[in-house]
Amino acid sequence: MGYKVAVVGATGNVGREMLDILAERRFPADEVVALASSRSIGTEVSYGDKILKCKHLDTFNFADVDIALMSAGGDVSKEWSPRIAAQKCVVIDNSSAWRYDSDVPLVVPEVNADALKGFAKKNIIANPNCSTAQLVVALKPLHDAFVIKRVVVSTYQSVSGAGKEGMDELFAQTRAVFVSDQVESRKFPKRIAFNLIPQIDVFMEDGFTKEEWKMMAETKKILDPKIKLTATCVRVPVFISHSESVNVEFEKPVTADEARNILREAPGVLVIDKRETGGYITPHEAAGEDATYISRIREDATVENGLAFWCVSDNLRKGAALNAVQIAESLINRKLLTPKKQAA
Ligand SMILES: NC(=O)c1ccc[n+]([C@@H]2O[C@H](COP(=O)([O-])OP(=O)(O)OC[C@H]3O[C@@H](n4cnc5c(N)ncnc54)[C@H](OP(=O)(O)O)[C@@H]3O)[C@@H](O)[C@H]2O)c1
Repeated sequence: MGYKVAVVGATGNVGREMLDILAERRFPADEVVALASSRSIGTEVSYGDKILKCKHLDTFNFADVDIALMSAGGDVSKEWSPRIAAQKCVVIDNSSAWRYDSDVPLVVPEVNADALKGFAKKNIIANPNCSTAQLVVALKPLHDAFVIKRVVVSTYQSVSGAGKEGMDELFAQTRAVFVSDQVESRKFPKRIAFNLIPQIDVFMEDGFTKEEWKMMAETKKILDPKIKLTATCVRVPVFISHSESVNVEFEKPVTADEARNILREAPGVLVIDKRETGGYITPHEAAGEDATYISRIREDATVENGLAFWCVSDNLRKGAALNAVQIAESLINRKLLTPKKQAA
């Protein structure tokens, strides 16, 4: 007997990807329900070879639902996750609403699946920010081997990280440039077509942006509070996949060959690292894929025990939908969740 799963935000970038991934991975669901706002009542979304008609979140009853995969933004999650969780339906949330709550595990299954043990305190599990998810998948095996002291990361984040409106804006602006139309910016603070923007999310008092702060705080919570991390997050005119230039300083000596061999064996990682023209991954190639790709691994001689690499992953998959489904799978594999139907 399988689980009943609700996808909340099913018409969005992440929600649609969740439905695809549930079907692709043959998630043990007896029933999948698609939910969104009142704007989308009756909108059709695909789940494998089935078509689901979206229902309205506000009028939906979660009493017989086992898992809610939430990707409807922070405000909706703040209001709805506790209500859904109170109906004994475990919430796996993609927004930042619950990530820093000490009673809510923040989980990337390849890195800290053990943290799931505490999920019943609130019945909510948080998915990290997209740029953090791929980064910690790469850092975890290196931290285990060489002990990370400090990380410097610059991100090149795609417009799909800002939802479907972000993708529409890049498309509309690119078209407008080609037909010499007026370029309008609504979603992003400046023009994104043929440009890039060194601001993601709002500014904090210390001059960092909230996206940069999230990478620091979430890496500490998921991997190790002792790791120092500084980030510069940049939006680039790419539709899907986030890229990161990463410099790491370790306690122990490290060579590029050792790091490459460790990363080759690491769960969720694929190394593409030929020191020749084209011998690396680009965001276009990573789109639609599950792996966190690592390229350009090299020693950084400007610090003691330094390493530099390039990290790319599909932000809608490992950065959001895939990670959420993997969390649900981990709950099942660890026997932390039984279908309500079976328990009845
Ligand atoms: N995109 C990424 O790379 C990424 C990565 C990690 C986390 N996230 C997080 O995932 C969430 C969704 O992101 P997205 O990229 O999928 O955004 P999106 O494409 O803009 O989709 C938003 C979804 O939320 C639904 N929604 C909005 N208001 C609602 C309401 N009041 N009640 C019910 N549903 C409502 C929308 O439904 P309607 O179509 O009916 O409006 C839509 O299905 C956000 O919290 C985001 O921060 C995104």
